[in-house]
This record gives sequence, C-alpha cells and structure tokens, in this order.
Amino acid sequence: MEQSILNSPFKIKNVEFHNRIMNASGCNCTTSEDLLELVSSRSGGIISKSCTYEYRVGNEMPRYYDNDVLSINSTGLANNGYEFYAKYGETIKSITNKPYIISVAGIKYRENLKIINKLQQYENHDLIELNLSCPNIIGKSQIGYDFEASDELLRCLYENIDNHNIGLKLPPYFDMIHFENMADIIKKYPICYLTCINSLGNGFVFNELMEPSIVPNNGFGGIGGSVIKPFGLANVRKFHELLPTMPIIGCGGITNKQDAYEYIKSGASLVQIGTQLIKTGPELFDMFLT
Ligand code: DHB
Repeated sequence: MEQSILNSPFKIKNVEFHNRIMNASGCNCTTSEDLLELVSSRSGGIISKSCTYEYRVGNEMPRYYDNDVLSINSTGLANNGYEFYAKYGETIKSITNKPYIISVAGIKYRENLKIINKLQQYENHDLIELNLSCPNIIGKSQIGYDFEASDELLRCLYENIDNHNIGLKLPPYFDMIHFENMADIIKKYPICYLTCINSLGNGFVFNELMEPSIVPNNGFGGIGGSVIKPFGLANVRKFHELLPTMPIIGCGGITNKQDAYEYIKSGASLVQIGTQLIKTGPELFDMFLT
C-alpha cells in the first residue's frame, strides 16, 4: 500500500483529520501535559482519556504493565472529569486546528447521558467517542456486551440530543452473531463512526518475578499490544462488511506502518495507537508518517 495513504487527510462528517494516525483513548491523554504533547506531535487528531462526570484518582499502582508482546491495565478510569476535557478544548484549539475528540465513559449508564448533555454547552471539541467498552461499570458487564442495554442507551441518547457527531468505541467481539447484533443496533442511530477495538477484557499476566503484574482486580486487566492485532483486524473487517459506509477507526496492536496498512486494508479509515504510544511517546507518530 502507498505510504501516502497514512499522510493523507480524512473527514468524519465535517471534521478533517490531518493524517490517518492518532492516539488511542487512555494513552498519553489524561493530563494537560499529555494533551499538549499530542498537540505538538504529528498525530492527525487527538482523543482524550475516557472521562466520567467527576474527577477520579483511579486504581492503586501498579495498574499498567507491558512486555514485548502485550500490555495489561486496570487504570480504574483515572481522569480529570468531563469539565476539564471540555474546557481544555479551548487551549488545544488556540494552538492547533487538528480534531479533538472527547471520550466519554460514565460509571453508570445514565452518567453517559448526563455528560453528553453537558458537553453540548462547549464548542471546542469536534466529536464525542462514547465508550461502550469500559470495564468499570460496577456490577454490570461492559455496555457493548449487553445488546439490550446498548440499544436502550443509544435510544435515550438520541431521544434527548440532536448531535450527529458521536462515534462509538466498541469492545472486541468473538462470535459472528454478536457482530450482527451490534451492527443491527448501530443501523438504527446516526452514529458517525466506530472505533474497533478496545482492549481484550480480563487477561492475566505474570511479571518477571512471577507475581501478578498489576495490583488492582487481583491482577486481571485489559490486554493490548501486538497479541490483540488479529482480533482488531477481524472486528474492523466484519463491521466494515456489515456497515460498508460507516467510517471505522482501527485500534489494537499497531506497532509499525505494516500494522497500520493491514488495518486500512481491512476497512479502517484511520488508526489509533495505544500500547506502542505508551512505550515510545508521541514522537512515535513520526515513524508512521515518514
Ligand atoms: C479504562 C480502561 C478501558 O479499557 C476503558 O475503555 C476505559 C477506562 C480504565 O481502566 O481506566
């Protein structure tokens, strides 16, 4: 595939990404310092850490670990609260015109609606990414694994707001009927893009000392990095087949240009980089664009 595709702009609705590479939510995007690093990097857009209504300190450390082939995290939605990310849009937009997406992950279903409603009052973000794959909803499964709840949440959302700049971050699906179930729900609403995939839920990794590599949740956490690429590619391909006109942002195990091309060949228009961005820092984007 041509090198130039990764350097070329792409529009979701009226929002123009400067190139096809950006950070994945949760990676280098929690604090103002993180976000400023993304502003001055070569990323084609910026997405925030998934935000809740209130500030959250998150889980006990260590809550992130990586090795050559994977990462594991149970961050516990450490974030500055939606208002910070909404207001910080003004600073971002005073420096750059690249798109700014706010990722939303309420800790209760209703909190998602409350946050998205409030975000309507701010004008310095271009898109909202509603995270249906956040593992932190107490006592419930991820929304994206509960089809009835996903449908109900989206129905309530579009009943109350008239915003057509909302995309969905989906969990990985592993069963063909589940792709179809989710695609059928998505078709009912004016969702403007999909990001596939979030981390694979509840893996377990030992560290070099043969101890659980992270402390929270007895060591269970979301798995990212190279090992999840086959699942990311499969999810992008399947949703592209079921929803051919839907823009898809591919995510999961991208470490180099070849990985990015594989996602684009599978139907992604843009790609997000998580684990490799944490390992390398935002100068990583140069490698994809030169
Ligand atoms: C967290 C992890 C996720 O995979 C996600 O989508 C949102 C939040 C976290 O633990 O902070």
